[in-house]
Amino acid sequence: MSLSSLALAYVSDLVRRETAMLYPPEKGYLVESRLQPLAAEAGLSLEAYVGRVRRDAGEQARVVDALTINETSWFRDNTPFRALATGIVPGLLEHRAERHVRVWSAACSSGQEPYSIAMTLKEHLPHDWTAEIWASDVSPTMVARVAEARYGQVEMNRGLPATSLVKYFTRAGSDWEVVPELREMVRPQVVNLVRELPPLPTFDVVMLRNVLIYFDLEVRRQVLHRVRATLAPDGYLVLGSSETAMDLGPEWVRETCGRLQLHRPACTTSDLLSAKQSAAAHDPTLTATGS
Ligand SMILES: C[S@@+](CC[C@H](N)C(=O)[O-])C[C@H]1O[C@@H](n2cnc3c(N)ncnc32)[C@H](O)[C@@H]1O
Repeated sequence: MSLSSLALAYVSDLVRRETAMLYPPEKGYLVESRLQPLAAEAGLSLEAYVGRVRRDAGEQARVVDALTINETSWFRDNTPFRALATGIVPGLLEHRAERHVRVWSAACSSGQEPYSIAMTLKEHLPHDWTAEIWASDVSPTMVARVAEARYGQVEMNRGLPATSLVKYFTRAGSDWEVVPELREMVRPQVVNLVRELPPLPTFDVVMLRNVLIYFDLEVRRQVLHRVRATLAPDGYLVLGSSETAMDLGPEWVRETCGRLQLHRPACTTSDLLSAKQSAAAHDPTLTATGS
């Protein structure tokens, strides 16, 4: 049985308010198919279930979680991971005195992206370097999956090279489990990109892939502004393949790395001032001014 247009409008407003994801009326079929199992579990018709959701904050959170679109795969689109290996990592090796790399996979779904980053860093960082990968998503179910680090055969068949399977996974019943040395690199947590961000460290690389497409222009602008504040002044932002052509505004500059378009923070006056202040702190013959 299908939902009334009023119930559909209520659900899409709820999801938009909580995650900024847009569910226009033509996606009603998707809302219905995602809510069907929740309604069945409650023993209610779809319409009656939405009636319950209106009165129950816990049920609202379940609906929002169920309506996130979590499509992902290992080494998705390949190019970003090649760019990480051949362009970004060599640049960091040259410029990072502390021999540590920090990456944020900012809408990481079930974890294929952060673990693909972990595999790439394992292969391309020297042995005396360390790395941490913050893996976040608005969906608690997805974040729990990242922490669990177990994948079924169908998921394993999507983009994972056989050599990586042998090296980085062990059998766990009919599933596959990521080895501890990769799991130790990954820090799963729930982060909603459209809210004020929790305290986060400064990242060398932020992967923000295949999520901006679900937001309207103003929300994209706000998310990019927040993400920029977490990125090192010489850090890299990697977007999804259909997002790289977006105009990110004056806070970003575009840079080509192999076949990939990367974005880097544009230098602002305050960045220049703090760079001058830090140089002046080390060399008293220099003075820091705003110009
Ligand atoms: C299509 S998946 C992309 C996963 C991965 N980045 C990739 O490219 O394969 C989009 C993810 O964005 C998450 N998402 C949607 N709205 C979000 C928000 N407001 N904050 C954080 N994550 C969000 C969804 O839960 C979903 O897991």
